[in-house]
Amino acid sequence: MRMYDIINKKKHGKHLTKQEIQFLVEGYTNGKIPDYQVSALMMAICFQGMDEEETLNLTLAMRDSGEVLDLSGIHGIKVDKHSTGGVGDKTSLVLAPMAAALGIPVAKMSGRGLGHTGGTIDKLECFPGFSTALSVEKFYENVNQIKIAIMGQTAKLAPADKKLYALRDVTATVDQLSLIASSIMSKKLAANSDAIVLDVKTGNGAFMKTEKEAFALAREMVQIGNNAGKRTSAVITDMDQPLGYAVGNSLEVKEAILALNGLGPADFMEVVYALGMEMVLAAERAETYEEARTMLVQTIKTGAALNKFAEFVDAQGGDKRLVFQPERLPVGKIQLQVQNTQEGYVSRILAEEIGLASLALGGGRSTKESEIDLTVGILLNKKRGDQVHPGDVLATVFASDMERAKEAYGKVVHAYQIQDQPAPKVPMIKGVVQ
Ligand code: URA
Repeated sequence: MRMYDIINKKKHGKHLTKQEIQFLVEGYTNGKIPDYQVSALMMAICFQGMDEEETLNLTLAMRDSGEVLDLSGIHGIKVDKHSTGGVGDKTSLVLAPMAAALGIPVAKMSGRGLGHTGGTIDKLECFPGFSTALSVEKFYENVNQIKIAIMGQTAKLAPADKKLYALRDVTATVDQLSLIASSIMSKKLAANSDAIVLDVKTGNGAFMKTEKEAFALAREMVQIGNNAGKRTSAVITDMDQPLGYAVGNSLEVKEAILALNGLGPADFMEVVYALGMEMVLAAERAETYEEARTMLVQTIKTGAALNKFAEFVDAQGGDKRLVFQPERLPVGKIQLQVQNTQEGYVSRILAEEIGLASLALGGGRSTKESEIDLTVGILLNKKRGDQVHPGDVLATVFASDMERAKEAYGKVVHAYQIQDQPAPKVPMIKGVVQ
């Protein structure tokens, strides 16, 4: 088999066989096929696409390029949740303990933030001592005992995707739906839960800017998951403004703890419940959405989810006292209020711009190696649809450094769009794909 022939076949829009895809993935992972040939193939895929079978075969070959976790030692139907990434997305911090409080085993692999989007691991590291570098044995033990453990993505998981993603990133071949779907799903399948619930975000702060693209990506991922024997569903959710009010690690953890105390922002809780219902149904703990929702609401009302969160933080070495005293979580000492100058209504808050403001403050990474400042961020005071008057505080910037605070301030001003007329209500949940 020759890589030249595979590139040429795809260039002419022909179907690649399972053997050809395996040859590509194995050869690229072990260094036998050079970057330039794989780049050419990726570009051919961007123009010609891949069918359902090719996409599944690419996903499975990438999954099998490294370790596939064996979760058979964990009792019950294991459910994983994955978000395509957003701004202010602290959903996992609330949803995972809610599900675990219902006895659903949550064996989750999480990532760090990159670019303008945040990551669950960075947020959890706001608890001094917290570690996601668990041994596989400890990971299993925690899920069995307390129903929840979160581990960092190891380099052993889908190494072919890691290499391929880095190549796509520099050859303008990231934005092809089948490539994105297979990349995300190869890691989910290697993490090997029984069911997968996907949060596909759409809007200004998301990877998929339009609903059409988001639904198309959701359909591809759900198809891959189901074809690979995992019960998979996707909820398409709004990311045209930041989720909730808090953006930035410490600020988001505080908001998550508020939510676990029953005081979560309405838009955020809508997303939490929509994803939570999918998780409960996938775990076969309820038969209807209504029943699942009632069960989830109870975990907040009774304090079971909050206590589960504390138990989880403690089990991974973090200081659980902060869960009950979140005011002790440090936030940036410099605080600049962004004031409104116009009469009107907030029509949009460009989520990407707010994410970039947080990045400028040092709250995110521009490269994988960057150190981040967990205390900085932006706390929104007004959201889409709110009426505003001159002098109202739109948001507060939390910083550690005045220069950076000013840069972020400019971005937050730019992010807020005010119009004369009330803005129509935008649904948070755009749909579900199963
Ligand atoms: N996230 C991934 O993991 N892979 C992609 O291709 C895009 C986003």
